[in-house]
Amino acid sequence: MKNYSNEGLIFLPDFKLFDYEEWSQLLEKRVGITIPKERELFLQTKIWSRMRELGISSFSEYWQMVKNGITGNLEWSELLDRLTVHETSFFRHGPSFKLVENDFNNILENKAKFHYKVWSVSCSTGEEPYSLAMMLHQLKIKAEKNNVYYGITATDVSKPALMQAENCFYSKEKVKEIDLNYRKYLTSVNSNIFTIDETIKDRVAFGVFNLLKIEKMPTIKFDIIFCHNVLIYFSKGKKIKILEGLKRFLKKGGLLVLNPTDIGSWKSQGMTRITYKRTLAYKLD
Ligand SMILES: C[S@@+](CC[C@H](N)C(=O)[O-])C[C@H]1O[C@@H](n2cnc3c(N)ncnc32)[C@H](O)[C@@H]1O
Repeated sequence: MKNYSNEGLIFLPDFKLFDYEEWSQLLEKRVGITIPKERELFLQTKIWSRMRELGISSFSEYWQMVKNGITGNLEWSELLDRLTVHETSFFRHGPSFKLVENDFNNILENKAKFHYKVWSVSCSTGEEPYSLAMMLHQLKIKAEKNNVYYGITATDVSKPALMQAENCFYSKEKVKEIDLNYRKYLTSVNSNIFTIDETIKDRVAFGVFNLLKIEKMPTIKFDIIFCHNVLIYFSKGKKIKILEGLKRFLKKGGLLVLNPTDIGSWKSQGMTRITYKRTLAYKLD
């Protein structure tokens, strides 16, 4: 029997029928994210709020929907977007950007011709890859090196986040995070919304990618793999598997740049930890 809230129109599901094990295992299996039992209420509320949008009042009906074929895949993508954290900002963790700046400057100084490839691994709504692109663009212009190219591959598991990234509209509040030096790459759409110039946007290519399926990624080799604020959501075993997977995508001498708080220590054959203030980075020998 359906329950009704005292608002009259909202169907309340029977919360006792919410199967935490079933839902958390699905999330863990498909994207590797673990939601501990203490966060059951978070999981339940997020799922329920999506069910409300669809007018579904039974957890088992929604479960069947999510598990079912192409419609299920589309719905899964919507739900996943609500269950994952997309918090991000322009030039987040400055020291990692400084490290990339330093590496690219070495290329600009020492190579007449080069294609510098960067992978922003879980790029959320695009602030990270656009920050990298603005920075590299400015360095290249300053060095007047026309034959040094740069390109950024930006991926995430969340399609809605990627759509926002591709649309490239950011609020006035958001763009305040961008250093004045780079504001010249912004255009105002209206008094509250800004976008980024085509010259910068053209250097960034977005794509859906699930870190748990790292073996399915086509083998492109990168100079920089920038992986920040995503490994924290995985178990230790999965973190190691992902890091070993990422290593395969580095050019010789390429850098894997991580957020220092995302992992404890990691040792891997052929990877040397490099020291650069307040960063956590490894070079492929
Ligand atoms: C907190 S944001 C980090 C964004 C950006 N890297 C930064 O540091 O600001 C975490 C991102 O990881 C993505 N994510 C979660 N699980 C993932 C997976 N299995 N594969 C790829 N991306 C994933 C989420 O969709 C989210 O956009």
